[in-house]
Amino acid sequence: MKILGILASHQEHGLNAQMLDEVLKNVDSGVKTETIFLENYDITPHKYHEDNPVLDELAQKLMDSDVWVFAAPTYWRELSGVLKNFFDCMRPKFVYFKQNGDTIPGPFKNKHYLSISSCYVSTLENFVTGVTDDSFKTIDRVMSAAGVIKVGEIVLPNTFGMKAIPYNKKKLCQKYAKKISVRKRKDDSTVKRYIQLFFMIAIMALITMGIQLPLSGWIGNNFWLNYASFTIIFFVLLACILHFVTFVKHRRR
Ligand SMILES: Cc1cc2nc3c(=O)[nH]c(=O)nc-3n(C[C@H](O)[C@H](O)[C@H](O)COP(=O)(O)O)c2cc1C
Repeated sequence: MKILGILASHQEHGLNAQMLDEVLKNVDSGVKTETIFLENYDITPHKYHEDNPVLDELAQKLMDSDVWVFAAPTYWRELSGVLKNFFDCMRPKFVYFKQNGDTIPGPFKNKHYLSISSCYVSTLENFVTGVTDDSFKTIDRVMSAAGVIKVGEIVLPNTFGMKAIPYNKKKLCQKYAKKISVRKRKDDSTVKRYIQLFFMIAIMALITMGIQLPLSGWIGNNFWLNYASFTIIFFVLLACILHFVTFVKHRRR
């Protein structure tokens, strides 16, 4: 079992480096770790008929690891350029191309990853506006194309003037260290997702019927009015929940 830390900050010993280090030094004994600082590599796109030993070396490190931990600060409300460039250049290694240009997950399918990011804005501002969301979203988009499975996110807002990571984030890093130390099956969240789906539907049905109650004078015992109002209210609730799960699900504090 091996965990690879991928540091994509301008600073080799900054806060993202500290969070990454806190994760890696707390993994279970027997789990191997390695950190690569992407700024140390001259990462350029692969050109046809030309060798690219840097990309080959990095791809081999990815292949030799079971879990990848990306630590990348938020720059300009987006993913740090060095990690974005790494993802752009690794694209032909992350995915296979179909004849029509579509992509399918490549050789790293079913590996796992953890994302770490940080930003200057306050915890409250990040909670409300989601400054770090786009960093996580870009990582998720690339990893999803590559078929790599997400373990979680760690975010550190309020970093202006901060020199060392606070105690609560150290604890969170240690918690994730334990989580990623265990060899995972392909995707062990299926049962969890069905349970979440069951409770989502149960709660939405309850809210829908609750909204229908004050309308009962108008709906009466008419089956089709009951059915139509239930469907419309349920649909609106479902759309809101799906929007939340899809766009606002990232850790913000
Ligand atoms: C080029 C650049 C752009 C940045 N853009 C933002 C930003 O849009 N929002 C923000 O809150 N912080 C921004 N920051 C602050 C970084 O997110 C902050 O410095 C980071 O927490 C430092 O992480 P590190 O110690 O690992 O380098 C930016 C920093 C740099 C260098």
